[in-house]
Amino acid sequence: MKQRAYTVRLFEYDQLKELKKEQVLLVNSAIKAARDAYAIYSHYHVGAAVRLANGEIVIGSNQENAAYPSGLCAERVAIFYAGARYPNVPILSIAIVAMHDEIIQKEPAVPCGACRQVMYEKESQGDAPMEVILYGSQKIQIIKQVADLLPLPFKKESLS
Ligand code: THU
Repeated sequence: MKQRAYTVRLFEYDQLKELKKEQVLLVNSAIKAARDAYAIYSHYHVGAAVRLANGEIVIGSNQENAAYPSGLCAERVAIFYAGARYPNVPILSIAIVAMHDEIIQKEPAVPCGACRQVMYEKESQGDAPMEVILYGSQKIQIIKQVADLLPLPFKKESLS
């Protein structure tokens, strides 16, 4: 028997001003997106913004539905929209933010498992890592690549 351990390397910051200019821009785009979320059931507004290799920024917010499972998370709205708008252009960075009653959460927003899976596949399509910026008003966490957030991933190679 062998025991293995995975390590997740996180870079933690207290304030937005410690981040690079382009990271701040992405976080601000995610905050703006969160405000426009359609979250009339959970009142949990999530915003995501992705920066593509061609310099474009694409946003997404959670879109809920009376048939609950028909709704979609902010991260997947942004990534699928980016895929539809700019096919085959890698995503270099994603910022995620969550708000409740118009107040940004203190703790960093984290993507759900299904979103990590979609983020992972998008990252695997290109040859560049996708940086993940998890924004909270009192703590910001940056992970250098999605693969760090999804150990033992289900990959397209799994199907062959
Ligand atoms: N949500 C997201 O948008 N992203 C996540 O990663 C987790 C959850 C949304 C889905 C739903 O509209 C609301 O948050 C409550 O789960």
